[in-house]
Amino acid sequence: MSAANASVATENAFDPLRYRSDFPLLKRRVHGKPLVYFDNANTAQKPQAVIDAIDRYYREFNANVARAVHTLGEEATSAYEATRDKVARFINAPSRDEIVFTSGTTQAINTVAYSYALPRLKPGDEILVTTMEHHANIVPWQLICERTGAKLKVAPITPRGELIVDRFVELLTPSVKLAGVVHVSNVLGTINDVSAISKACRARGIPLLVDGSQAAPHLPVDVRAIGCDFYALTGHKLFGPTGTGVLWARRELLEAMPPFFGGGEMIKMVSFDKTTFADLPHKFEAGTPNIAGFIGLGAALDYVEAIGRGRIAAYERDLLVYATQAMKSVPGLRLFGEANEKAAVLAFLIDGIHAHDLATLLDQEGVAVRSGHHCAHPLMQFFGVAATARASLSFYNTRDEVDRFVEAIGRVRRLLG
Ligand SMILES: Cc1ncc(COP(=O)(O)O)c(C=O)c1O
Repeated sequence: MSAANASVATENAFDPLRYRSDFPLLKRRVHGKPLVYFDNANTAQKPQAVIDAIDRYYREFNANVARAVHTLGEEATSAYEATRDKVARFINAPSRDEIVFTSGTTQAINTVAYSYALPRLKPGDEILVTTMEHHANIVPWQLICERTGAKLKVAPITPRGELIVDRFVELLTPSVKLAGVVHVSNVLGTINDVSAISKACRARGIPLLVDGSQAAPHLPVDVRAIGCDFYALTGHKLFGPTGTGVLWARRELLEAMPPFFGGGEMIKMVSFDKTTFADLPHKFEAGTPNIAGFIGLGAALDYVEAIGRGRIAAYERDLLVYATQAMKSVPGLRLFGEANEKAAVLAFLIDGIHAHDLATLLDQEGVAVRSGHHCAHPLMQFFGVAATARASLSFYNTRDEVDRFVEAIGRVRRLLG
């Protein structure tokens, strides 16, 4: 390698330690040990830039948005609305008007369920989802099915945790009026080929909702390239505050959808005879929003963009390979999800040890992993288990932490095995 190339390579080398110091919480000790935070699929830690943005809003320009013409109101509105532009760029949406702020993915999907699906579905219609969905992309559809007489259909996955795309496509029959698929599984880490799925749906005129909760923090997301109709994401997994999320939908769909919530902020004119609604996206944003939260989310998006999602994805891929190999060296450890295209999520069990005991003892070692059903009961049923432990990694995690985690698993095994 020439000296010039070597210096470019060094500049581009991803150094997680450079970013770790941006996250105050990662300096914590738990039970006297340095924290290893491997619960990022549950919620991610927040960089100082996000904490500062929220703090600044409350200290310097706290006011309600859209309602005030005074200076503080204008400053608050412009900081809050700036996040809408950032989200539009972040997912390459054609227009900022198509970015609806919600409290999270759950509210985003429920908005589609109640505003899009409920008025349209009839008995005999079907909604298609996959076995690997989070409850947020199952239960709203079940509620709509109960009210309309429609049915929920489920596309199968392989034992390695990959969607059987051919089966999904075969199941896209004329009675299917909406399809929903997770972009990245929160349990298996599987990255679904949402572009191929989208293409099949479009060819049949079936709108597709993609649950991007776990994709947005780890991969570049381009809704135009994907070609879907709805994309949902949640801010707190994306290094932003809780209580923030986004529904992106094509303009023509949003325009045709009645609002889900009614109240202030979402109207043009109210009288007791007739109310007219605000233009997009405000029609779907009734009431005072989570202003501080969305200002924080804007800072989170700036932070992630400055690092670069392509670089994040590449680093996390390496870390996943490293962690997978290390975990496979542990006798009796079973991994769930071995898709070829996979994000850094590792659900696992160890023979004879309950997932909760595993997570509790790992916590004693300073290692935070989640245990339970991960809001994916049907997936647990598919694998025939009640619960798993799950390590989910982020760009601020290191190989050194993986080593500590695997050593800690070894100690738990010796204690309980
Ligand atoms: C794949 C997936 N979908 C939906 C959700 C729900 O997100 P929220 O609880 O932020 O609405 C989650 C959160 O765990 C998730 O992982």
